[in-house]
Amino acid sequence: MEKNIFGKVDTYLNDLFSLEDDVLKRAEQSIRDNGMPEHSVSASQGQFLFLLAKMCNAKRIIEVGTLGGYSTIWLGRAIQGQGKLTSIEIDSNFAEVAKDNIKNAGLENTVEILTGDALEILNEFKKKEEGTVDLFFMDADKPNYIAYFNWALKHSRKGSLIVADNVIREGKVLNENSSDEKVIGVRAYNQMLSENNQVTSSILQQVGIKDYDGIAISVVK
Ligand code: SAH
Ligand code: DHB
Ligand code: MG
Repeated sequence: MEKNIFGKVDTYLNDLFSLEDDVLKRAEQSIRDNGMPEHSVSASQGQFLFLLAKMCNAKRIIEVGTLGGYSTIWLGRAIQGQGKLTSIEIDSNFAEVAKDNIKNAGLENTVEILTGDALEILNEFKKKEEGTVDLFFMDADKPNYIAYFNWALKHSRKGSLIVADNVIREGKVLNENSSDEKVIGVRAYNQMLSENNQVTSSILQQVGIKDYDGIAISVVK
C-alpha cells in the first residue's frame, strides 16, 4: 500500500467536509509560530471529538492537555451556547496561546482554560464543582491517565464518555518491556480498561495526517 495514502485520504476528508475554517487554521499556525509541540489532534479527529460530544448530549466537558486549544475549539463548538468546557494546561505559555485562540473562535463564554497541573486542579475543584461531567477528554501526561480516569468516573453519570488520546503510539504499545513512560502509561491504561466493569470500552487505531496512533473510548455503565 502506498505509504502516504492515509495522509491523502485525510486531506480528501478535510476537503469533503470543509473541516478547517480560518479559526482552526490560525490555531494550528499559532502552534508552529510559537514553537510548540505539533501534537494537536487532526481535523478529522477533531470532527470525531465533536461527534462524540453530540452523541452523549454533552453539556459539561473537561479536557486535560490544552496545548494551543485546537481540540478545545472542536469540543467547544459542539456545546456552544448550551454547555461549559474546562480545559487544563500545565504550561502557562501554551495556555496564553490557547486563550487567544479561544477568543478568536468566539468561544470565551463556553470555554474556560485553567493553568496548572491537571490532577491538582481537578482534585481541588472536586470540592466546589457541582454536577456531572458528560465528556472527559484526556490528552495530557500519559502516566497519569488512570488517575484522570478515576477522577472522571467519580464525576460521571450513566452514559458519560471518558476518552483518552494516544493509546497506540505508532504501535509502541505492543512492547511490554518499553522503558518509555508514555508507553508504560498507556499500556497500563488500556489494560485497566479491559478489566474495568464500570465502563464499556473500545480502542480505535487511527491513521491519517498525524502519526499512527489510537483513541480509547469508554462509556460509563
Ligand atoms: N489536546 C490538544 C493537544 C494536547 S498535547 C489538542 O489536541 O489540540 C498535550 C498537552 O498536555 C501539552 O500542552 C502539555 O503541556 C500538557 N500537559 C502535560 N502534562 C500536563 C499536566 N500534568 N497537567 C496539564 N497539562 C499537561
Ligand atoms: C504526544 C502527545 C499527544 O497528545 C499527541 O497527540 C501526540 C504525541 C507526545 O507527548 O508524544
Ligand atoms: Mg494527543
